[in-house]
Parts: sequence; C-alpha cells; structure tokens
Amino acid sequence: MDTIQHSSPHTALVTGATSGIGREVTLQLADAGWRVIAVGRDQQALAELGRVSELISPRAADLLEGDLAGLVPEQLDALVHAAGISPDTGVEHTDTEDWSRVLTLNVTAGAQLARHALPALRRAHGTIVFLNSGAGTAARPRNAVYAASKHALRALANGLRVEEEGNGVRVSSVYPGPTDTPMFTGHVDRSELIQPASVAAAVLTAITAGPDVQLTDIHVRPRRELSW
Ligand SMILES: NC(=O)c1ccc[n+]([C@@H]2O[C@H](COP(=O)([O-])OP(=O)(O)OC[C@H]3O[C@@H](n4cnc5c(N)ncnc54)[C@H](OP(=O)(O)O)[C@@H]3O)[C@@H](O)[C@H]2O)c1
Repeated sequence: MDTIQHSSPHTALVTGATSGIGREVTLQLADAGWRVIAVGRDQQALAELGRVSELISPRAADLLEGDLAGLVPEQLDALVHAAGISPDTGVEHTDTEDWSRVLTLNVTAGAQLARHALPALRRAHGTIVFLNSGAGTAARPRNAVYAASKHALRALANGLRVEEEGNGVRVSSVYPGPTDTPMFTGHVDRSELIQPASVAAAVLTAITAGPDVQLTDIHVRPRRELSW
C-alpha cells in the first residue's frame, strides 16, 4: 500500500455545491481549512461561493455532459457527490429520457467521478461520501424513479467500499430525511425540516473520522418524523 501523502490544506471535490446540502458542505469544509473544488452549473451561485473564501475554487460543469475526468485534481482527500434531481412524477409518466437523466446524474456521475478520483484518493487514504436519501431504502408514490436511483447509489457505495477496502479508500453513504432545500417541495411546516447545515455536519463527520474507522451509513432524521 502507498505511503499516505499528507499535504496541507486537504482538498475536496464537492458536486451540488451551488445549492442546499452541497453548498453547506462546501462552506463547512472551507471553514475547516479545506480547499474545495465546488462544482455546479449555476454561474451566479458559483461566483458567490468564490467570493466567500479563497479556499473555494468554483468549477462550472454539467454532470450530465462531457468527460468528468477533467474535474478531478491530482491531489484529493475527499469526494462528495451531492448533486441530484428528484422528479415529482409517477412511473406511468416517466419516459426513457427522464429515467436516464435521473440515473445519470444521481448515480453514474458519482460513479464516474469516483472512478477518476480513485488514484488520488488511494494515495491520500481519502473518503468518498455519496448523498443518499431515505428513498435509498424505501419508496413513496411519485417517487419511484428517484428511489430507484438512490437504491442504486446505495449499492454503488456498498460495492465500491468492499472493492476499495484494501486500497485505503473509505466510502460513506449519508441518508438525509426531508431537508430544507429547494429540492424538498412537500407540504409541511418547513420549520420542522432538517437544516442543510446539519446534514453537512454529518458529511464532515464521515470525512474527518479517525483513520481506524469508516462511517458506512449515516441516517440523518428530523427530530419528529414528518409525513407529506
Ligand atoms: N432536500 C432533501 O429533502 C433531500 C433529502 C434526502 C436526500 N437529498 C439528497 O441530497 C443531495 C443534495 O440535495 P439538495 O436538497 O441540496 O438539492 P438542491 O438544493 O436542489 O441542489 C441540487 C444540486 O444539484 C446540482 N445539479 C443538478 N443538476 C445538475 C447537473 N446536471 N449538473 C451538475 N449539477 C447539477 C445543482 O446545481 P446547479 O443547478 O448549479 O447545476 C444543485 O447544486 C441530493 O443528492 C439529494 O437527492 C435531499
């Protein structure tokens, strides 16, 4: 096994950095002294992130297009795949293109980024965190497509973890419940939703866990379960 290369500051690549949970992960990592490559499409949100901290390097990219290898730096300690979409449609009204878009962004893009990041993560004994969901273990009406993608993402994390355990790379899934971001449109009292900063704190816990452990599955639930 390679010698661990410690370099300062640590570097993370975060997708979905322009909104919600990914944005909070980006801010908290930068606050903790990490250099963050912050990926998203929203140019204004990216520019704002760049103004918050010189540790944040915004990268405009559509994860549904192009080769993702160019996003991955030579030195990398953590990959966080938070980008995701959640269509509010039933199976009856979901065509092949819709299925493809959801699975490509939520699963394949994360897998491809992980693939390209493995050499650097192995050198650093780094961590991959996939933002999963309660939908990764259960499905609701009008949510089967999203749930299928998150079930697949759980399988990706579990499979990659055992593939990489001899190589020093650890893999975590973080499963948030309903969280107060633009993605969540359920009809609830939004003051009862999980705050994206709380989910981000769980992601940082996985990334900064002691070298002897990996936090495989972290479920983040609201204090009171919500129905919507
Ligand atoms: N909010 C919840 O209740 C909840 C619950 C459980 C799990 N989650 C999961 O948590 C993660 C973050 O969700 P969130 O609630 O923070 O969502 P959000 O606020 O809607 O943010 C979604 C992010 O995905 C990015 N994205 C969407 N399409 C993209 C594309 N084609 N290429 C690149 N980036 C793209 C968006 O960036 P641009 O628009 O700038 O591209 C945005 O930064 C997701 O994986 C979601 O499934 C959320």
